[in-house]
Amino acid sequence: MTEFDNDTLLRALRREPTPHTPVWLMRQAGRYLPEYNATRARAGSFLALATSPALATEVTLQPLARFPLDAAILFSDILTVPDAMGLGLSFGEGEGPRFARTTADEASIDALAVPDMAKLRYVFDAVAEIKRALRARVPLIGFAGSPFTLACYMIEGGGSPDFATVRKMAAARPDLLARLVAINARAVAAYLNEQIAHGADALMLFDTWGGLLSTDAYLTLSLASMRAVLAALAPSPSGSAVPTIVFTKGGGQWLLEQAGCGASAVGLDWTVDIAKARASVGQRVALQGNLDPVVLLTDPETVARAARAIVRAAGAAPGHIFNLGHGIVPATRPENVAALVDAVHAESRATRATP
Ligand code: CP3
Repeated sequence: MTEFDNDTLLRALRREPTPHTPVWLMRQAGRYLPEYNATRARAGSFLALATSPALATEVTLQPLARFPLDAAILFSDILTVPDAMGLGLSFGEGEGPRFARTTADEASIDALAVPDMAKLRYVFDAVAEIKRALRARVPLIGFAGSPFTLACYMIEGGGSPDFATVRKMAAARPDLLARLVAINARAVAAYLNEQIAHGADALMLFDTWGGLLSTDAYLTLSLASMRAVLAALAPSPSGSAVPTIVFTKGGGQWLLEQAGCGASAVGLDWTVDIAKARASVGQRVALQGNLDPVVLLTDPETVARAARAIVRAAGAAPGHIFNLGHGIVPATRPENVAALVDAVHAESRATRATP
């Protein structure tokens, strides 16, 4: 009854056996690919690329044309949601994201509302167009930022080395931060439900900055809001539950709590020992990860060796999705990505063949 040529990602998310370990890479469509840079130049800017469904479809498919990856991920950004809330997103050349307005005080937080999803239509149109272009080769992963990680950018107005303003607010005005995170959770749930309605086959929540919080703040602000988002998700148009992945960078010490948040899978950064992670969560969830992206800056042999070690450490039980522990670095050579994907497939097939 499988609708895909390759459904290993969805099987692994359900912790069912697969002939090989599925692999996809965070930022697999990005600046390490010359064809991505060419399309981006044609678009004029990253935002022009992300807001054009046709161009977003083109770059989403680029890494799949080069490597036998087991999933596609929507080409977009987590900051589309606060942009639709009226914060005014821009990306300076060679810089990170910037918001024209911040939400760092009571008045600006009170003025926020869940945006009209019509403002994000370009994202949902991209999901539908990518689905058509994929022709059921592999599943499509949709995504959003976690409510807390979005709050980080909304409060600081952009990236920050330490997000000190956010951490000060967590200490001095936890009620205010909780209000902001709660609005974001409703916006993210509506956003992901539209992605489901337009064909996303799996969803990932990127909690890039949850690891900056104290344990208490992580559990009550970041993890609790991700749990609320997951609980608000609708079934797919065909009526089945859409599998989900939560990823808190730097969140390895809260693995058991993450395993109980309602997601199908927990993403691990490279600081986590994946064998120990599997032993501690048992078969409650699938695990995704966790090669250090910087390993892709070495050579094909080193990459393959490191990939094989992770496949072996993840173990023979079903429920491992190979990925990096964070996004691919722009200086990565494509031949190293090819070596990675081949090593994951070959090693996992060999492991499955051994009794
Ligand atoms: O993984 C994929 O291939 C899908 C596309 C994707 C992008 N951003 C494209 C992008 C995804 C899933 C994201 C998520 C995202 N965006 C996160 C969470 C994951 C993480 O990296 O921690 C965050 C924090 C953002 C916000 C963001 N967008 C930042 C901080 C930056 C600048 C840093 C950088 O890498 O340049 C972006 C820009 C961005 N988003 C690029 C891409 C391919 C590079 C922009 C360019 O082409 O110039």
